[in-house]
Amino acid sequence: MYSTLPIHIHPITAADTIDLRHSVMWPNHPKEHVIIDGDGTATHFGAIHQGKIIGVASFFPDGTSYRLRKLAVDQKFQRMGVASALLTTATAELRKMGCTQIWCDARQYASAFYQRNGFELGAQTFQKNGMDYVKAYKTV
Ligand SMILES: CC(C)(COP(=O)(O)OP(=O)(O)OC[C@H]1O[C@@H](n2cnc3c(N)ncnc32)[C@H](O)[C@@H]1OP(=O)(O)O)[C@@H](O)C(=O)NCCC(=O)NCCS
Repeated sequence: MYSTLPIHIHPITAADTIDLRHSVMWPNHPKEHVIIDGDGTATHFGAIHQGKIIGVASFFPDGTSYRLRKLAVDQKFQRMGVASALLTTATAELRKMGCTQIWCDARQYASAFYQRNGFELGAQTFQKNGMDYVKAYKTV
């Protein structure tokens, strides 16, 4: 899927993801809340628009299965295809690295986004940090 915004998608460092993870996902928590064990060895992608990172996605390997965590798009640029484009590019790159499956704990309100991007949803809803989640899986 392609974005309607002019963007480039590139590998970025874990440090590059922190500000957007924090401001989009957990603005009321300290920044440390969005630093994840394994960030150092995960694969991170950024969507860059006019020189600024406006979308991030991080993938944590376990064998050939990769867990997607902290997918976040700057509010000003949501619903323009940025996250879909990030997933499309990331999936192609991860496949080259031997990835066979991507999965995540999806915030339930975003489940339509994952379905639209080819993920299957688990049957059970569960809670973490007071928020509803559902498992989402995609064979790549
Ligand atoms: C979820 C998120 C990553 C989607 O990014 P995006 O760039 O806006 O998504 P895209 O533009 O590629 O896809 C848009 C489509 O996904 C679905 N979608 C996107 N955001 C949605 C939302 N918040 N609620 C329901 N559906 C959503 C819709 O089908 C939408 O299409 P539409 O606008 O034609 O209805 C973004 O809204 C975000 O950062 N949200 C806050 C953080 C978050 O929830 N991250 C995911 C954690 S599991």
